[in-house]
Amino acid sequence: MSENIDKDRVFIFDTTLRDGEQSPGASMNIEEKLSIATLLEEMGVDVIEAGFPIASNGDFDAVSKIAQIITRSTVCGLARTIKNDIEQCALAIKSAPLKRIHIVISTSSLHMKYKLQMTPESVLEAIRDSVILARNLVDDVELSAEDGSRTDHDFLCRCVETAITAGACTINIPDTVGWSMPNEYADLISMLLARVPNIDKAILSVHCHNDLGLAVANSLAAVCAGARQIECTINGLGERAGNAALEEIIMCIKTRSDRLPYSNNIRTELITRASRLVSSITGISVQPNKAIVGKNAFAHESGIHQDGILKNSKTYEIMTPESVGLDKSILVLGKHSGRAAFKSKLKDLGYNLENVDIEVAFCRFKDLADCKKDISDDDVKSIIEQ
Ligand code: KIV
Ligand code: ZN
Repeated sequence: MSENIDKDRVFIFDTTLRDGEQSPGASMNIEEKLSIATLLEEMGVDVIEAGFPIASNGDFDAVSKIAQIITRSTVCGLARTIKNDIEQCALAIKSAPLKRIHIVISTSSLHMKYKLQMTPESVLEAIRDSVILARNLVDDVELSAEDGSRTDHDFLCRCVETAITAGACTINIPDTVGWSMPNEYADLISMLLARVPNIDKAILSVHCHNDLGLAVANSLAAVCAGARQIECTINGLGERAGNAALEEIIMCIKTRSDRLPYSNNIRTELITRASRLVSSITGISVQPNKAIVGKNAFAHESGIHQDGILKNSKTYEIMTPESVGLDKSILVLGKHSGRAAFKSKLKDLGYNLENVDIEVAFCRFKDLADCKKDISDDDVKSIIEQ
């Protein structure tokens, strides 16, 4: 690792275009991938994993096109420990000024025995040979120990040491199946930092899946233990239950900087745009109560909360809507709403409150809200005009 990297800087590696695209139904065409990559670059993402070039001609073309237009983020392609994968990956990313080959091989006993049908010694040899080959083609190589969180610790230490000796600059320890608990995953990172002799020559990275809903918690616990790259996706897209959501990670770091004193380059005000772009391209909508980007994340319906928000938004909002690129929070009028929000709505709609009998209008509004879920601006107007 370069001596002058700020020790508290966390690198953001976005894999929406690779792991995200592996979500059932999320495949994207080249134009769509280019528009997402362009926005990720504008957001300040450090590394964009553009695809898996050997997977198909379409993937190869998408990675090459992204490598031709992205200049400020590192463009990364995925490869297995296979010569042709690595050479095709190097070819696909060759136009990018900043480029990385990301090599993956499983290291848990379960995966080595049943999936790879390889012995631990041959996995070590594959790591060494493929990292050396990739380093002959590019300067920046990442090695992922797939199913790392379920890998025997002694063997994982040997894999990591071997990859770094062979020239890997980033070592990723994926929680491939979302198995880990936050303290357990943090301990794994601490164990590697304490036991791998050449660990200071690489950045430790995390890649967490959300099978138990812990992907963001695990990623942040790992950063607190010393990991300095987080792999994540917009809207938490990814295999099965998805990956750690970029927007949640970034807003945790921004909002709780007292507990998470780490820096990154992300322009948070582009988060909503990115979420909407990915959702409209993939057709995978975001649940309304999803943190940060759900449509209810900055909406308030209960009277008590609306009254608090109107007096001081900090009563019920720990982030400003502007910080994620929204104009303002929304006070939804429904049966739980109170006078404060109703009056505020009348004012927004341009009514002069002195000329309106608020009590009568408010009672009519409550009657309507009892039988109708959403009260629209038109409903309010018709109440007043009655
Ligand atoms: O989940 C995983 O282990 C992966 C690797 C390719 C990093 O996606
Ligand atoms: Zn993954």
